[in-house]
Amino acid sequence: MLLQLENVSKHYHLGDTVIRALDQVNFFVAAGEFVAIMGASGSGKSTFLQVASMLATPTHGKVLLNGKDVTTYNEVERARLRNKEIGFIFQQFNLLARTSALDNVSLPLIYAKVSDSERRKRSEEMLKKVGLGDRMNNTPAQLSGGQQQRVAVARALINDPLIVFADEPTGNLDTKSGDDIKELLTNLHKEGRTIIMVTHEEDVAKIAQRLVVFRDGKIVSDQSHGTKKQRSSRKNNKS
Ligand SMILES: Nc1ncnc2c1ncn2[C@@H]1O[C@H](COP(=O)(O)OP(=O)(O)O)[C@@H](O)[C@H]1O
Ligand SMILES: [Mg+2]
Repeated sequence: MLLQLENVSKHYHLGDTVIRALDQVNFFVAAGEFVAIMGASGSGKSTFLQVASMLATPTHGKVLLNGKDVTTYNEVERARLRNKEIGFIFQQFNLLARTSALDNVSLPLIYAKVSDSERRKRSEEMLKKVGLGDRMNNTPAQLSGGQQQRVAVARALINDPLIVFADEPTGNLDTKSGDDIKELLTNLHKEGRTIIMVTHEEDVAKIAQRLVVFRDGKIVSDQSHGTKKQRSSRKNNKS
Protein backbone atom coordinates (compact mmCIF):
# COMPACT_ATOMS: atom_id res chain seq x y z
CA MET A 1 0.00 0.00 0.00
CA LEU A 2 1.39 3.39 -0.99
CA LEU A 3 -0.20 5.48 1.76
CA GLN A 4 -1.85 4.32 4.95
CA LEU A 5 -3.40 6.22 7.82
CA GLU A 6 -3.90 4.08 10.90
CA ASN A 7 -6.31 5.34 13.50
CA VAL A 8 -5.28 8.93 12.88
CA SER A 9 -6.66 11.78 14.98
CA LYS A 10 -5.82 15.46 14.88
CA HIS A 11 -7.01 17.58 17.78
CA TYR A 12 -6.92 21.34 18.11
CA HIS A 13 -7.38 23.04 21.46
CA LEU A 14 -9.38 26.24 21.64
CA GLY A 15 -9.51 27.30 25.28
CA ASP A 16 -11.20 24.44 27.12
CA THR A 17 -12.68 22.81 24.04
CA VAL A 18 -11.02 20.13 21.97
CA ILE A 19 -11.76 20.22 18.26
CA ARG A 20 -11.49 16.76 16.75
CA ALA A 21 -10.61 17.86 13.23
CA LEU A 22 -9.74 14.20 12.48
CA ASP A 23 -11.25 11.52 14.66
CA GLN A 24 -9.73 8.02 14.39
CA VAL A 25 -9.44 7.90 10.63
CA ASN A 26 -8.38 4.76 8.81
CA PHE A 27 -7.54 5.14 5.15
CA PHE A 28 -5.30 3.64 2.52
CA VAL A 29 -4.55 4.37 -1.08
CA ALA A 30 -2.80 2.19 -3.63
CA ALA A 31 -0.42 3.49 -6.29
CA GLY A 32 -2.29 4.85 -9.30
CA GLU A 33 -5.56 5.60 -7.51
CA PHE A 34 -7.37 8.90 -7.99
CA VAL A 35 -9.39 9.71 -4.85
CA ALA A 36 -11.85 12.57 -4.47
CA ILE A 37 -12.70 13.82 -1.00
CA MET A 38 -15.93 15.63 -0.21
CA GLY A 39 -17.74 16.76 2.92
CA ALA A 40 -19.26 19.85 4.49
CA SER A 41 -17.10 22.81 5.42
CA GLY A 42 -15.29 22.06 8.67
CA SER A 43 -15.59 18.28 8.29
CA GLY A 44 -11.81 17.80 8.31
CA LYS A 45 -10.92 17.54 4.63
CA SER A 46 -8.03 20.01 4.65
CA THR A 47 -6.70 18.66 7.93
CA PHE A 48 -6.77 15.19 6.40
CA LEU A 49 -4.75 16.36 3.37
CA GLN A 50 -2.25 18.14 5.61
CA VAL A 51 -1.72 15.10 7.80
CA ALA A 52 -1.65 12.65 4.88
CA SER A 53 0.88 14.84 3.04
CA MET A 54 3.06 15.19 6.17
CA LEU A 55 2.56 18.94 6.37
CA ALA A 56 0.98 18.42 9.80
CA THR A 57 1.63 15.69 12.34
CA PRO A 58 -1.29 13.77 13.84
CA THR A 59 -2.16 13.92 17.54
CA HIS A 60 -2.63 10.12 17.55
CA GLY A 61 -2.07 7.37 15.03
CA LYS A 62 0.35 6.53 12.26
CA VAL A 63 0.91 7.70 8.71
CA LEU A 64 2.79 5.20 6.57
CA LEU A 65 4.31 6.00 3.20
CA ASN A 66 5.43 2.87 1.38
CA GLY A 67 5.23 1.07 4.72
CA LYS A 68 7.45 3.56 6.57
CA ASP A 69 5.96 5.31 9.60
CA VAL A 70 6.61 8.97 8.79
CA THR A 71 5.17 10.18 12.10
CA THR A 72 8.52 9.18 13.66
CA TYR A 73 10.38 11.57 11.33
CA ASN A 74 11.65 14.90 12.63
CA GLU A 75 10.88 18.21 10.92
CA VAL A 76 13.95 18.13 8.65
CA GLU A 77 13.35 14.54 7.56
CA ARG A 78 9.72 15.29 6.85
CA ALA A 79 10.58 18.39 4.79
CA ARG A 80 13.07 16.38 2.76
CA LEU A 81 10.59 13.58 2.16
CA ARG A 82 7.83 16.03 1.22
CA ASN A 83 10.03 17.81 -1.27
CA LYS A 84 10.92 14.54 -2.94
CA GLU A 85 7.74 12.51 -2.79
CA ILE A 86 4.79 14.87 -2.37
CA GLY A 87 3.25 17.38 -4.77
CA PHE A 88 0.64 19.81 -3.44
CA ILE A 89 -1.83 21.95 -5.39
CA PHE A 90 -3.66 24.66 -3.42
CA GLN A 91 -6.90 26.48 -4.06
CA GLN A 92 -5.01 29.80 -3.91
CA PHE A 93 -2.20 28.58 -6.21
CA ASN A 94 0.48 29.73 -3.68
CA LEU A 95 3.01 30.86 -6.30
CA LEU A 96 5.82 33.31 -5.54
CA ALA A 97 4.52 36.66 -6.79
CA ARG A 98 7.54 38.36 -8.30
CA THR A 99 8.93 35.16 -9.75
CA SER A 100 8.55 33.82 -13.28
CA ALA A 101 6.54 30.70 -14.03
CA LEU A 102 9.80 28.95 -14.87
CA ASP A 103 11.41 29.82 -11.52
CA ASN A 104 8.25 28.93 -9.59
CA VAL A 105 8.27 25.48 -11.16
CA SER A 106 12.00 24.91 -10.64
CA LEU A 107 11.98 25.91 -6.96
CA PRO A 108 11.51 22.35 -5.61
CA LEU A 109 14.48 21.30 -7.75
CA ILE A 110 16.70 23.88 -6.02
CA TYR A 111 15.88 22.27 -2.67
CA ALA A 112 16.56 18.89 -4.26
CA LYS A 113 19.99 20.23 -5.36
CA VAL A 114 19.50 19.62 -9.08
CA SER A 115 22.01 21.42 -11.36
CA ASP A 116 21.10 24.72 -13.09
CA SER A 117 20.92 23.35 -16.60
CA GLU A 118 18.98 20.24 -15.63
CA ARG A 119 16.59 22.40 -13.61
CA ARG A 120 15.88 24.65 -16.54
CA LYS A 121 15.41 21.75 -18.92
CA ARG A 122 13.00 19.89 -16.68
CA SER A 123 11.01 23.00 -15.74
CA GLU A 124 10.62 24.00 -19.40
CA GLU A 125 9.44 20.51 -20.28
CA MET A 126 6.93 20.51 -17.44
CA LEU A 127 5.53 23.93 -18.38
CA LYS A 128 5.13 22.75 -21.98
CA LYS A 129 3.30 19.70 -20.69
CA VAL A 130 0.72 21.89 -18.91
CA GLY A 131 0.34 24.06 -22.03
CA LEU A 132 2.37 27.07 -20.91
CA GLY A 133 5.41 26.75 -23.17
CA ASP A 134 4.83 30.34 -24.36
CA ARG A 135 4.36 31.87 -20.88
CA MET A 136 7.46 30.65 -19.03
CA ASN A 137 8.85 34.11 -18.29
CA ASN A 138 5.57 35.61 -17.07
CA THR A 139 5.02 36.31 -13.38
CA PRO A 140 1.76 35.15 -11.73
CA ALA A 141 0.23 38.65 -12.06
CA GLN A 142 0.67 38.36 -15.83
CA LEU A 143 -1.21 35.07 -15.94
CA SER A 144 -4.90 34.20 -15.59
CA GLY A 145 -6.10 32.16 -12.61
CA GLY A 146 -6.28 29.06 -14.75
CA GLN A 147 -2.75 29.59 -16.03
CA GLN A 148 -1.46 30.17 -12.50
CA GLN A 149 -3.02 26.91 -11.40
CA ARG A 150 -1.34 25.15 -14.32
CA VAL A 151 2.00 26.55 -13.13
CA ALA A 152 1.15 25.17 -9.68
CA VAL A 153 0.39 21.75 -11.21
CA ALA A 154 3.75 21.83 -13.03
CA ARG A 155 5.48 22.72 -9.75
CA ALA A 156 3.69 19.89 -7.96
CA LEU A 157 4.95 17.40 -10.56
CA ILE A 158 8.51 18.62 -11.07
CA ASN A 159 10.11 16.22 -8.59
CA ASP A 160 8.12 13.27 -9.95
CA PRO A 161 6.32 12.76 -6.61
CA LEU A 162 4.75 9.53 -5.37
CA ILE A 163 1.49 11.31 -4.55
CA VAL A 164 -0.15 14.53 -5.70
CA PHE A 165 -2.49 16.23 -3.21
CA ALA A 166 -4.93 18.92 -4.33
CA ASP A 167 -7.11 21.01 -2.01
CA GLU A 168 -10.03 22.43 -4.03
CA PRO A 169 -7.82 22.97 -7.11
CA THR A 170 -10.72 24.44 -9.13
CA GLY A 171 -12.26 26.39 -6.23
CA ASN A 172 -10.98 29.76 -7.41
CA LEU A 173 -11.42 29.24 -11.15
CA ASP A 174 -14.06 30.03 -13.74
CA THR A 175 -15.76 27.09 -15.48
CA LYS A 176 -13.46 27.03 -18.51
CA SER A 177 -10.23 27.17 -16.47
CA GLY A 178 -11.69 24.62 -14.06
CA ASP A 179 -12.34 22.30 -17.01
CA ASP A 180 -8.71 22.70 -18.13
CA ILE A 181 -7.49 21.65 -14.67
CA LYS A 182 -9.92 18.72 -14.63
CA GLU A 183 -8.54 17.56 -17.97
CA LEU A 184 -4.97 17.96 -16.74
CA LEU A 185 -5.67 15.90 -13.59
CA THR A 186 -7.52 13.26 -15.62
CA ASN A 187 -4.50 12.91 -17.91
CA LEU A 188 -2.12 12.67 -14.95
CA HIS A 189 -4.21 9.84 -13.57
CA LYS A 190 -4.12 8.08 -16.97
CA GLU A 191 -0.32 8.37 -16.86
CA GLY A 192 -0.42 6.46 -13.58
CA ARG A 193 -0.17 9.30 -11.03
CA THR A 194 -1.66 8.82 -7.59
CA ILE A 195 -3.93 11.77 -6.80
CA ILE A 196 -5.87 12.71 -3.67
CA MET A 197 -8.12 15.72 -4.24
CA VAL A 198 -10.55 17.65 -2.07
CA THR A 199 -13.42 19.30 -3.90
CA HIS A 200 -16.92 20.51 -3.15
CA GLU A 201 -17.98 20.25 -6.79
CA GLU A 202 -19.72 17.03 -7.90
CA ASP A 203 -18.52 17.30 -11.49
CA VAL A 204 -14.91 17.65 -10.33
CA ALA A 205 -15.25 14.69 -7.95
CA LYS A 206 -16.52 12.60 -10.87
CA ILE A 207 -13.12 12.58 -12.61
CA ALA A 208 -11.78 10.46 -9.71
CA GLN A 209 -12.42 6.71 -9.38
CA ARG A 210 -13.08 6.75 -5.69
CA LEU A 211 -15.09 9.06 -3.48
CA VAL A 212 -14.39 9.47 0.22
CA VAL A 213 -16.84 11.53 2.29
CA PHE A 214 -15.96 13.19 5.60
CA ARG A 215 -18.30 14.23 8.38
CA ASP A 216 -17.19 15.58 11.79
CA GLY A 217 -13.61 14.42 11.28
CA LYS A 218 -14.59 10.88 10.29
CA ILE A 219 -14.82 9.03 6.98
CA VAL A 220 -18.52 8.20 6.59
CA SER A 221 -18.40 6.78 3.06
CA ASP A 222 -15.68 5.37 0.79
CA GLN A 223 -16.76 4.09 -2.62
CA SER A 224 -14.93 3.21 -5.81
CA HIS A 225 -17.21 4.03 -8.70
CA GLY A 226 -14.58 2.94 -11.24
CA THR A 227 -14.84 -0.60 -9.88
CA LYS A 228 -18.63 -0.56 -10.00
CA LYS A 229 -18.63 0.44 -13.65
CA GLN A 230 -16.19 -2.35 -14.48
CA ARG A 231 -18.38 -4.87 -12.72
CA SER A 232 -21.53 -3.85 -14.55
CA SER A 233 -19.78 -3.81 -17.93
CA ARG A 234 -18.43 -7.31 -17.29
CA LYS A 235 -21.96 -8.44 -16.50
CA ASN A 236 -23.14 -6.88 -19.74
CA ASN A 237 -20.46 -8.70 -21.71
CA LYS A 238 -21.56 -12.05 -20.35
CA SER A 239 -25.24 -11.65 -21.14
N1 LIG B 1 -5.20 25.43 12.99
C1 LIG B 1 -6.40 25.17 13.54
N2 LIG B 1 -6.68 25.53 14.79
C2 LIG B 1 -7.88 25.26 15.35
N3 LIG B 1 -8.88 24.63 14.70
C3 LIG B 1 -8.66 24.25 13.45
C4 LIG B 1 -7.42 24.48 12.79
N4 LIG B 1 -7.50 24.00 11.52
C5 LIG B 1 -8.71 23.47 11.41
N5 LIG B 1 -9.43 23.62 12.55
C6 LIG B 1 -10.80 23.13 12.81
O1 LIG B 1 -10.83 21.75 12.50
C7 LIG B 1 -12.05 21.43 11.83
C8 LIG B 1 -11.75 20.86 10.45
O2 LIG B 1 -11.21 21.88 9.64
P1 LIG B 1 -10.77 21.66 8.13
O3 LIG B 1 -9.92 20.45 8.07
O4 LIG B 1 -10.19 22.92 7.64
O5 LIG B 1 -12.16 21.34 7.41
P2 LIG B 1 -12.58 21.42 5.87
O6 LIG B 1 -11.35 21.49 5.04
O7 LIG B 1 -13.38 20.18 5.64
O8 LIG B 1 -13.44 22.64 5.72
C9 LIG B 1 -12.87 22.69 11.81
O9 LIG B 1 -13.72 22.70 12.95
C10 LIG B 1 -11.83 23.78 11.91
O10 LIG B 1 -12.36 24.93 12.49
MG1 LIG C 1 -10.75 22.94 3.58
